[in-house]
Order: sequence, then C-alpha cells, then structure tokens
Amino acid sequence: MIRFENVVKKYKQQDVIDGLSFEVAPSEFVVLIGPSGCGKTTILKMINRLIIPTSGKIYIKGEDAAGHDKYELRRNIGYVIQSVGLFPHMTIGENISLVPSLQGKGRKEIAQKCAALMETVGLPPGDYIDRYPAQLSGGQQQRVGVARALAGDPEILLMDEPFSALDPITRAYLQEELLSLQTRLKKTIVFVTHDMNEAVKLANKICIINGGKIVQYDTPENILRNPACDFVREFVALQRNDLALGDEQEAPRRAALGGLVSRAVRGARNVFSALHHRK
Ligand SMILES: Nc1ncnc2c1ncn2[C@@H]1O[C@H](COP(=O)(O)OP(=O)(O)O)[C@@H](O)[C@H]1O
Ligand SMILES: [Mg+2]
Repeated sequence: MIRFENVVKKYKQQDVIDGLSFEVAPSEFVVLIGPSGCGKTTILKMINRLIIPTSGKIYIKGEDAAGHDKYELRRNIGYVIQSVGLFPHMTIGENISLVPSLQGKGRKEIAQKCAALMETVGLPPGDYIDRYPAQLSGGQQQRVGVARALAGDPEILLMDEPFSALDPITRAYLQEELLSLQTRLKKTIVFVTHDMNEAVKLANKICIINGGKIVQYDTPENILRNPACDFVREFVALQRNDLALGDEQEAPRRAALGGLVSRAVRGARNVFSALHHRK
C-alpha cells in the first residue's frame, strides 16, 4: 500500500531522513516510534506530500506519489494530528463534511455520511453536530479529528501523536476505539507515537526510528523479545521504567493491587499454618 525506496530528506545538507526503505501492507497498523527529532513527522508528511523528499521514491498503491496531484492525494489520505486542527469557526458537522463536499458529493450523501461517522466515533449527531470545536473537550475534539479524517473514505490514515495531549483515561479509551474501528474498517494506518506502551497496544508492526534511520521494523512481540540492537533494548527498557516510575494513574492502582496481593498471600499463609497446626 505504501512503499519507501531509499528516501532521503535533507535540510541544508543535514540528512534528516537517511535512505529509508520500508513497506506498509494493506490494512496493516504500523506504529512509527523513536525519540523526539528522529524524523517521525517528516516520514508521515512525505506520505501525503506535505514534505517533498530530497531523493528516493514513495509509492502509494504501486504508483509514484510524485506523479499524484498533491491535493487529490491529501483528500484520499486521512490525516490526524495532535493539535486536531479543527476549523474553529465551523460547526462539528461542517468540519466533518468539508472533504466530502470538496470531493463533490451530494448534499444528502454528505449529511448521511457525517451522521454515520459521528456515531462511529461516539458523538451522537443530535447532541454535537451544531456545536463549535471550542464547546467540546479535548478528547471529543480528537474524535471529531478522526471522523473528519475518515470522511473522504480514505484507504490510508496517517496519525501523528493524535492522543498525546489527552489525559491517560481518555487516551486509553480512544486507543480501544481506534482498534475496534480498524477491525471494522480495515484502513491502512501509519501512527506516530513516542510511547512504547501505546505502540505495543495498537501496532501490527512497530517501526523504530533513530536519527532518520530504521533500527528495527518488526512485530511488537519480536521487538520486545528480540531487540535488534542496544538502542532498541535501551529504548524499550527506558520506556518501561518511565511507566514504573512516572505514571500517576498506574502507580496507585499498582500499589492497591500490591496491597491486595500481599493481604491475599498473608491470608493464605494463615489458613495454611492453621491447617498445618491442626494436624
Ligand atoms: N523545516 C525544517 N528545517 C530544518 N530542519 C527541520 C525542519 N523540519 C524538521 N527539521 C528537523 O528534522 C528533524 C526531524 O524532525 P521531525 O520529523 O519533526 O521529528 P519527530 O517528529 O520525530 O520529532 C529534527 O531534527 C528537526 O529539527
Ligand atoms: Mg513529530
């Protein structure tokens, strides 16, 4: 569905993307992950030609993306970003309907599509269609972002840290919904994150990037079990440490769970010793 062939992007002679070759199969959910500045956003924006490669080829469905009209290409590739980027002066309905109306769809078809998409992302149109983005929470706005990206019926969905700014509960919820959406709609998704837990939860394949190069492109299981190099091993270990040390939502739960387990163990020991002494 998407194929990079020796793609290079330079800014002032500095290689930001350094000879990248990889492929994303139809209906695959690929997560790009790596440290800040490693080139994730640049890779994503080269797919819909918001950024033009310095050299190399990108093929979309077997066709050289350079030969496509870039506006046509962008209408056929959904794009969701962290800051959502909804038009503030347009209602939710108008935001979602924008691409289908640019595609020249009829008014009735657009209205049906818009309502169906709002249901799909869990925003009942009766309650939300006439609201403005500022009247929605961050998580609801991000749902609108996903609905809008799906409105043109794209086969490909590009998502650049779409959930990073959300609180952990909303984030986990939207991750689940994205997974179930993917199961139903079978889109080809390229999703950028810097969070390994998110990557493991969502991906069929994880592509780990460092310094504009791929260091490992593999299933989540293989990346966790057989890291290709020290960088991957350390990257995974560091992220797990982060989770153990930093996640405020997890820590109390883990502590509570820990308490429960030790109480259970103590209880079992008491029962065991009572039985033992009775003998
Ligand atoms: N327009 C630009 N001019 C010069 N350097 C840029 C430009 N855009 C991005 N870069 C550099 O390219 C590198 C990769 O950026 P980016 O793809 O945004 O990284 P990521 O999304 O992984 O954090 C960074 O070092 C960034 O500073
Ligand atoms: Mg980025």
